[in-house]
Amino acid sequence: MKEPAAPGTVSHDLPVSPELERFMTGDWSATPLPSGIRLPAADPAAARRARLSAHFPGERLIVPAGELKVRSNDCDHRFRPHSAYAWLTGLTGEDQAGHVLVLEPDGPHGHEAVLYIRPRSPRSGTEFYRDRRYGEFWVGRRPDLAEAERMTGIRCAHLDAYRQPPPGRDAPNDAQLASVLSELRLVKDAWEVAQLQLAVDHTTAGFEDVVRALPRALAHPRGERWIEGIFQLRARAEGNGTGYETIAASGAHACVLHWIRNDGPLDPGDLLLLDAGVETDSLYTADITRTLPLSGRFSPVQRQVYELVLAAQEAGIAALKPGASFRDFHRAGMRVIAEGLAEWGVLKSAEGDFHRRYTLCSSGHMLGLDVHDCARARAETCLDGVLEEGQVLTVEPGLYLQPDDETLPPELRGIGVRIEDDLLITSEGARLMSQALPRTPDAVEAWMGALLYG
Ligand code: GLY
Ligand code: MN
Ligand code: MN
Repeated sequence: MKEPAAPGTVSHDLPVSPELERFMTGDWSATPLPSGIRLPAADPAAARRARLSAHFPGERLIVPAGELKVRSNDCDHRFRPHSAYAWLTGLTGEDQAGHVLVLEPDGPHGHEAVLYIRPRSPRSGTEFYRDRRYGEFWVGRRPDLAEAERMTGIRCAHLDAYRQPPPGRDAPNDAQLASVLSELRLVKDAWEVAQLQLAVDHTTAGFEDVVRALPRALAHPRGERWIEGIFQLRARAEGNGTGYETIAASGAHACVLHWIRNDGPLDPGDLLLLDAGVETDSLYTADITRTLPLSGRFSPVQRQVYELVLAAQEAGIAALKPGASFRDFHRAGMRVIAEGLAEWGVLKSAEGDFHRRYTLCSSGHMLGLDVHDCARARAETCLDGVLEEGQVLTVEPGLYLQPDDETLPPELRGIGVRIEDDLLITSEGARLMSQALPRTPDAVEAWMGALLYG
């Protein structure tokens, strides 16, 4: 009979003799991590835990990092911890799979945080050289318990001590805990704003890379995919990757809001809608869209559509300030679009919501650790709430003029334009974090010219 595979191994892994097993366990040097390993987000994370604690006196709170997910057969997807876990611990690495943060009630008020982790593979067993998912020689070193405590300032315990989840509220399943976590994340602290600016700056560099690569992409039969790859290179080199799947949509593909198939060719007479964001190592993401003429110059009709979307975005941005309702910037932008469509004769009038046939989606959302950040916030604190200083959001109106839309004159059909920027609400209004990327048609043409021929 065939022996069952050892834990962490697969069917093509060779068996290990008892002699080899003994040989493997000895004669390794101690390799402690350096002493100054406290995470940059350790202090903000402690303040966040204290704010969370105050909402749930006397209740156990469970915030898992999440589990590895099989991609196929014996390969897993790359792991990215849940945003709430990263926000509360400052831990963001791929090595967090399976870990759990528990806030244990500590008296009637307050909690003690305990982090249940899988510590560094001990050299006494076989995990370190045999376990494909967790072995140090397969996936890299994790901190031991003492090191993890120094990194986070949180008491750490072995994951084995956390086999049966104790009763308590757990973040993915408990609606109230999930919504409080979302709402606590609505206003960003100074450290988070700096991380978001870093994400935006790397994203700007990625857009510049794409423009420089356009001649090569235009020559490739799947030019959209080439563009996705160029942006991905920048995202992986500078950060953790992209914060969401890159949308590289040329021509009529731009009329599909989340076109991520990216398998089309590029035609120099078309526009390219590129919606992409770098996610930092700290897991904050940008979310920026530019719609660029692939020839470097907008045609008159492309410019006409672009200018209407830009006017809508300007109106939306002008409506951002503390105390304004979240819906104000959307309403302001959509008013401009509806009036523009009526002026073009596409709509009989700007009244009603008929413009939505051509805009399809809402024109902005909160931004942070998640691209659609704070998604579990209750309507009264977000969609029906008011803006507050320290919030970061996108303003991203678009016009999606479907190629088969008979309400449109033929020259407008198949044009999709979105302009998306990231903004920080300030005491006065809003700061455009993505201002390094040009938005007016003239500035876009000049910027492309400089990158392509400068
Ligand atoms: N990239 C998705 C969005 O703009 O919301
Ligand atoms: Mn967006
Ligand atoms: Mn976007």
